Amino acid sequence: MKRFVVLLTVVMMIAAIFVGCGPAKPAKPNIGITIYKFDDNFMSIVRNNIDKLAKDQGDKLDYSIQDGQGDQAKQNDLIDQFLTKGAKSLALNMVEPASASVVIGKAQAKKVPIVFFNREPDAAEMAKYANAYYVGAKAQQSGTYEGELVAEYWKATPTADKNKDGKLQYVMLLGDPANTDAKYRTEFSIKAVEAAGIKVDKLAEDTAMWQTGEAQNKMQAWLSKFGDKIEVVFANNDAMSIGAINALKAAGYFKGNKYMPVVGVDAIPEALDAIEQGTLLGTVLNDAKRQGKATFDLAWTLAQGKPAATDVAPLADAANNANPAGKYIWVPYVKVTKENYKSFK
Ligand code: BGC
Ligand code: CA
Repeated sequence: MKRFVVLLTVVMMIAAIFVGCGPAKPAKPNIGITIYKFDDNFMSIVRNNIDKLAKDQGDKLDYSIQDGQGDQAKQNDLIDQFLTKGAKSLALNMVEPASASVVIGKAQAKKVPIVFFNREPDAAEMAKYANAYYVGAKAQQSGTYEGELVAEYWKATPTADKNKDGKLQYVMLLGDPANTDAKYRTEFSIKAVEAAGIKVDKLAEDTAMWQTGEAQNKMQAWLSKFGDKIEVVFANNDAMSIGAINALKAAGYFKGNKYMPVVGVDAIPEALDAIEQGTLLGTVLNDAKRQGKATFDLAWTLAQGKPAATDVAPLADAANNANPAGKYIWVPYVKVTKENYKSFK
């Protein structure tokens, strides 16, 4: 028995040597992906789409998706780790897009391409690195669509002007000011209302940082201050439109003829439900599926050392892709109301 154990040990050692000396497997392309904060409704949908597409590559790809936790210093550490581990491309949803220059410097030193997505760095920074790309949607367009939804409602609804002063009194829930989406949605939604010939009167605006809970608190405070002086609620995204609706429901709205029009952006599943229930007037589809796909496809193409232009150009929406160099992929927004919400479920 003892001899057998010795023999077996020797055989195993020899086998181990052979395995160790076998032909080295070629390293798989490795992609480092990070999201500004996992705790974000819309970005969770984008993240799951990217994750699924990456998984579909099976053995061909190594990848890692990490949480920036809303902290740029932490996210920089993650990016350093990706680069140390030999990432062949990076897909980055920046906590602070203004910090893109630091990240670009790091990646450029190692010749690693970057696909930024959803939180857009400055064009000047983007221009500094030929291998920096951006996948996103034109926030101006989403703002315009939100404003148009409100203008259509206002014109079709004689009772919308509750105090009959000929002006639209509104409150505005803002997203994270570090994200230009927040700035443009605020600006362009109101511009579209005014372009339709409607006079506006801003009662209040404040940031709820894209979040339901914060939006609910802000809306509750505005309701106790202004009550029915508020004629329309604009939210820069649906996590916040849902927060506003929660506060409105608690204050007795959406029963009998107590109504308040609320508009948002994203068309997350909760928002589509709210349209169905009649609590959300409308929203704007922020296409998480196409943005996730465009981000992954581009990062994967680049990780394999292929040129972006050939593989990725067909993905870009020709009419929306204003950048001839192909550094930007713009995914279009779509207006969503009770007329068409079912097709987005
Ligand atoms: C979405 C928000 C999201 C934000 C994250 C925006 O485009 O509309 O819901 O919180 O991106 O950066
Ligand atoms: Ca009024």
